[in-house]
Amino acid sequence: MMDYFEILGWVIEDSLAAICREADVTREHVCECVRKHLQGLQHAYFDRSPTTPQIPYGDPMCRLAYLFRHVAIGADVCEEVMCQDGKVRDHVMRCARDRKEVRVCAFGGGPGTEQLAVCNWLEWNKSLPRRVVKVSCCVLDRVPEWAESVRGINNGIERYFRSEYGGNFMDWPALPQSQFFPVDIGDASSFVNLPGLFCGHDLYVLNYVVSEFKGQERALANALPKVFSAADDEALFLFIDRYDTRTMGHAKSVAEDLGLEVVNEEALRGHVIDGSHQKESLGLLLADVGESPRTTADAFWIACSKGA
Ligand SMILES: C[S@@+](CC[C@H](N)C(=O)[O-])C[C@H]1O[C@@H](n2cnc3c(N)ncnc32)[C@H](O)[C@@H]1O
Repeated sequence: MMDYFEILGWVIEDSLAAICREADVTREHVCECVRKHLQGLQHAYFDRSPTTPQIPYGDPMCRLAYLFRHVAIGADVCEEVMCQDGKVRDHVMRCARDRKEVRVCAFGGGPGTEQLAVCNWLEWNKSLPRRVVKVSCCVLDRVPEWAESVRGINNGIERYFRSEYGGNFMDWPALPQSQFFPVDIGDASSFVNLPGLFCGHDLYVLNYVVSEFKGQERALANALPKVFSAADDEALFLFIDRYDTRTMGHAKSVAEDLGLEVVNEEALRGHVIDGSHQKESLGLLLADVGESPRTTADAFWIACSKGA
C-alpha cells in the first residue's frame, strides 16, 4: 500500500539535490536550514497570538521542512475524514464509480497534500471496481513556488502506482492529474476574472488553511462567495483543521457566512497516522535532518453542501 513518507522522500530528495546543485551548497547545509525552518513552522502553527506570523513558504528550505514534517499527517487526516464522513465518502465513491473521475479543488493546497489523500483513499477502497479513476486536483495557493512540489507529489504517486501495478495506468487504482494555479484566496479581486477555475469540482477542500487566516477573519468570508457560487449544487465543501476553539469557530462562521449547510461536524482527537506510512521510509533524510515528522494530530472537520 501507499506509504506517504516514501513518496515524500522522493520529492524531498529531488528538490534537495537541485538546491545543492543550483545554489552550490552542501546537503548538510540544506539539512541545517530545514531544521531551522522546522522550528519556525512549529512556532507559527502553535503560537497563541491572535495573528498568523508570515510563514516563508516561498523559501525552498521552508517548503522542504513542510514536506518533511507536515504533509504526511495532513494527508492522513484528510483521508481519515473521507473514510469517516459518510456524506463525503458516499459522494466521492459515487463520482469514482459513475464517472471514473473525482474532481477536487484544494484551496491553499500548497504542495498537493489533498491529491495524496484522495489517491490513497482510492487505493484502499476495495469496494470500487478495479479500474482507473482520474483524480483531477486543482490546487490554488498564493505561493507560486508550490507548483514544483505539486508536480513532484503527482510524479511520486505515479511512480508508486507504476511500481505496484505496472506500466499501464489503466491498471492503477487512480490517475493523479494535478494542476497548480497561483491565486490568493483571500483576495477576490485576484480571481475575479477566473470563474472557470472554480466550477465543476466535486469536492472543495480547505485542509489546514482556515488557521492560516488568523487575524484576517473576514478575508475568507468576503472572497469565497465568488468561488462557491460557481460550484455545482451537488458539490461538497470540507473544512479540515487543527482542533482549537478559535479555528473551529472561524471555520464555522465562514461556512455560515457563505450560506452553506453544515451536513456534518466532527472532531478527530488523538489521531495517529495509519501504520502503512512509516517515517523510516524517508530513508537517509531522517538521520540527516535529525528530526521527526509529525505522526499524530488533533483535528476537526466541517462538511457542508450548498443547501436548498
Ligand atoms: C498549512 S498549509 C496547508 C497546505 C495543504 N492544504 C496541506 O494540507 O498540506 C497552508 C497553505 O495555505 C496557503 N495560503 C495561506 N494563505 C493563503 C491565501 N491567502 N491564498 C492562497 N493560499 C494561501 C499557504 O501558502 C499554504 O500553502
